[in-house]
Amino acid sequence: MSEQQAQPSGPDLTKGVSFTDLTHGKLIGHVGDEDVLVVCSGGGIFAVGAYCSHYHGPLADGLVEGTTVRCPWHHACFDLRTGEATHAPAFNPLSCWQVEQRAGRIFVSGRRAGAPARQAPAGAPERIVIVGGGAAGFAAAEMLHRQGFAGRITMLSADADAPVDRPNLSKDYLAGSAPEEWVPLQSDGFYAQRAPCRDGGRRDPSL
Ligand SMILES: Cc1cc2nc3c(=O)[nH]c(=O)nc-3n(C[C@H](O)[C@H](O)[C@H](O)COP(=O)(O)OP(=O)(O)OC[C@H]3O[C@@H](n4cnc5c(N)ncnc54)[C@H](O)[C@@H]3O)c2cc1C
Ligand code: FES
Repeated sequence: MSEQQAQPSGPDLTKGVSFTDLTHGKLIGHVGDEDVLVVCSGGGIFAVGAYCSHYHGPLADGLVEGTTVRCPWHHACFDLRTGEATHAPAFNPLSCWQVEQRAGRIFVSGRRAGAPARQAPAGAPERIVIVGGGAAGFAAAEMLHRQGFAGRITMLSADADAPVDRPNLSKDYLAGSAPEEWVPLQSDGFYAQRAPCRDGGRRDPSL
């Protein structure tokens, strides 16, 4: 869903930046050809991908509060410690980068792991049925998976297609500036891979 920047932004973060280079606790720079946002807030220094995983909103212009950053475009929220998308409309995490402080400067090196895999609590049901195959239904299924739910999820929908980004339909897609592959919230392969079942995770048109 995102377009790549032609030129990386700001300073080369592997060479280090000074705390005074940060404006309101934020600085956009790059590591290789990837734009990275450095944030000093909530008692830590964090480096994450500089653009929102929803529609590439500029997180450097976002609102930082404690260990979170909120996208200025549609207000998705990300945990700076793990990159995790904690509020819709973003689902995918931001990349996370290793930060070091040396001689009063901030250095960003390679990528680091994001949120660790979770395990569903004991006693979680074996099967969950979600009624509605829109954004809310998709978000529920995606969060169950993220929380470690390993059972079977059935989504009941009156739609012929898997969950789509409805707001996009009447805007960029209609204007011709968004390709068709941006419309589904995830590809068919995503469902088959994450919820393997007897029918390979395919949709049942009779539902
Ligand atoms: C063209 C368009 C443009 C929009 N633009 C914007 C925008 O710019 N900004 C914004 O904030 N919002 C926008 N919206 C609104 C946004 O899309 C909705 O708020 C959002 O889709 C709501 O998600 P939902 O999952 O709650 O419901 P829906 O997306 O309405 O999903 C409901 C689901 O329930 C299923 N369902 C309904 N009845 C049954 C049944 N009896 N049995 C089984 N399944 C059933 C449907 O098939 C569907 O899958 C737009 C909506 C449309 C249609
Ligand atoms: S681009 Fe960030 S919330 Fe939409």
